[in-house]
Amino acid sequence: MWTQRLIFLELLLVFSSEGAFYGYYLGRCQFNSPDSNDVVLVEQLYFNKILLGQYNSTLGKVVAFIEKAEAYADMLNKMPRFQAHQIWKINRCKTGAQLANENLPAAVEPYVWLRSVKAEYSQHQQKLVCSAYDFYPKKIRVTWLKDGKNITSGVTSTDELPNGHWLYQIHSYLEFTPKPGEKIACMVDHASLKEPKLYDLEPEPDSGKHKMVVGSAGLLLGLLFSVMGFIFFKKKSIAERVRVPTSEEIPENNP
Ligand SMILES: *[C@@H]1O[C@H](CO)[C@@H](O)[C@H](O)[C@H]1NC(C)=O
Ligand SMILES: *[C@@H]1O[C@H](CO)[C@@H](O)[C@H](O)[C@H]1NC(C)=O
Repeated sequence: MWTQRLIFLELLLVFSSEGAFYGYYLGRCQFNSPDSNDVVLVEQLYFNKILLGQYNSTLGKVVAFIEKAEAYADMLNKMPRFQAHQIWKINRCKTGAQLANENLPAAVEPYVWLRSVKAEYSQHQQKLVCSAYDFYPKKIRVTWLKDGKNITSGVTSTDELPNGHWLYQIHSYLEFTPKPGEKIACMVDHASLKEPKLYDLEPEPDSGKHKMVVGSAGLLLGLLFSVMGFIFFKKKSIAERVRVPTSEEIPENNP
């Protein structure tokens, strides 16, 4: 390991004398299958964005990408200690892949938000947005249903936008002329879901329920305040009534 590091350092020094400023090493462990049998270790050495050489565990050797690195690649490939260290790294990569497969979810379910937005400058009356956030993998299908049937006209969508951290978001828009009684839904199909999930646009009944809940809460609060106000008023008037007659009686009886 130490000799290998020394060789890399030597490589850096050799190339820095030619006016290079920035070198970096990139190691990655690639796998697809859950049993980690297809693990590939890829290591790359760059200098000023130029790939000097690459180790690929499928090939089992370092390949030079520029002429000047060939001698070093040959040297590493002939070094038993380097090869042994690469085997150790591949095994560590396999354990890591197994751990990741056992502990990490393969797909992350999107958080979906369906809402109505203002449709200004549109001949249609309503514009809906169905947004899916923070899903993985990238492949997703967001479609619109009117009374259970596909809608294709008036639909626009963004691409799957990377959120950073491997997650994606997408926004699908529907512009339409609402008719009474029709049910509009946004359907999301993604690897994280066993079957496509439907998100209904809640029309009048639910907003009515909301209004009722808010209304009753308001009524209750109003009632509470009026009861409290009444109690306060009562207390105050009792106190005043007790005081008023005594103060009135004294001046009236005395003269
Ligand atoms: C590693 O080598 C294999 C076999 O040649 C090749 O299919 C794969 O694309 C290589 N990986 C990279 C990152 O170059
Ligand atoms: C809706 O249309 C898409 C293509 O736009 C199609 O793949 C899908 O099967 C259709 N679904 C239904 C329920 O008709």
